[in-house]
Amino acid sequence: DWTMGKFVDQEIARIRALVGEKGQVIGAVSGGVDSTVAAKLMQEAIGERFHAVLVDNGVLRLNEAKQVKETLTAGLGINLTVVDASERFLSRLKGITDDPEKKRKVIGNTFIEVFQETAKKIAREATSDRAGEIEWLLQGTLYPDVIESISFKGPSATIKTHHNVGGLPKDMNLKLIEPLRELFKDEVRELGTNLGIPEDLVWRHPFPGPGIAIRILGEVTPEQVRIAREADYIFIEEIKAAGLYRKVSQAFAALLPVKAVGVMGDNRVHAQVIALRAVETSDFMTADWYPFDGAFLKKVSRRIVNEVDGVCRVVYDITSKPPGTIEME
Ligand code: XMP
Repeated sequence: DWTMGKFVDQEIARIRALVGEKGQVIGAVSGGVDSTVAAKLMQEAIGERFHAVLVDNGVLRLNEAKQVKETLTAGLGINLTVVDASERFLSRLKGITDDPEKKRKVIGNTFIEVFQETAKKIAREATSDRAGEIEWLLQGTLYPDVIESISFKGPSATIKTHHNVGGLPKDMNLKLIEPLRELFKDEVRELGTNLGIPEDLVWRHPFPGPGIAIRILGEVTPEQVRIAREADYIFIEEIKAAGLYRKVSQAFAALLPVKAVGVMGDNRVHAQVIALRAVETSDFMTADWYPFDGAFLKKVSRRIVNEVDGVCRVVYDITSKPPGTIEME
């Protein structure tokens, strides 16, 4: 019979046997539940010989890099390196105005580049004072990811190129370690709670690798990032305040690349439009838009227009999946 406590003990023993007395492991974390749970498990198993890396790609949510750093380092005792590569990512995204897949590719490739550089640096430091080389790469792959990457061989695979699974280069010559590959999402959450990971992290909505770059329709500039981030923060804050965060499967603010007219105070303004998106789903393959009540939407809309410079209008996306996708790009 399977219990969470038993799973933790067995998995820790398995990790220790696998990497040995001196083996070192590296792994990227995003602040999401899967990578955090995987990282905490590694930390419990081998302590400082696990090296977590958070790449700040400049398109994380508002204050995210800082928050993740605090939770993982001070809260969970994970040996974490944060790399601020925002400028590199943003400079490469410049000029991409009408090609979401290009955004994904640029971000994916830049991520690999930054991760590899960081891995080399960490390896040099780690091997100078400890014996082992870094031989292992941690991935927070879940059972459904394993199934999806096996079965998605048809044209559906090319609808969007997700880079959660197998997203890191083979030429790094690292062996994969995937402690969550037999678990479903609800089991990962239970495991996370068991390992002392804070509730708000355990229940966090999924966030795509390309971040808010695919929620800024059109060109990603520092100014567009600011607007999208601030609006998104307000929306999520209100969803939490209304006690709806766990009922909604995923929610975010997207920034449309058009301007509309509005009146603010005595002035006529010409500013951008925010589109709110919130869905309910069990598997993210199909999804329904979430039926917020009018008073809630009114409050969010008023706050965004009043508090976010450069926005004069808010719309709510009432497209289900299919035919829409959850993300807008
Ligand atoms: P879609 O938009 O395809 O999204 O309905 C389904 C789920 O996948 C997430 N998503 C991504 N995750 N890289 C990721 O890591 C991506 O490029 C990407 N595109 C979509 C999306 O947030 C939703 O949870």
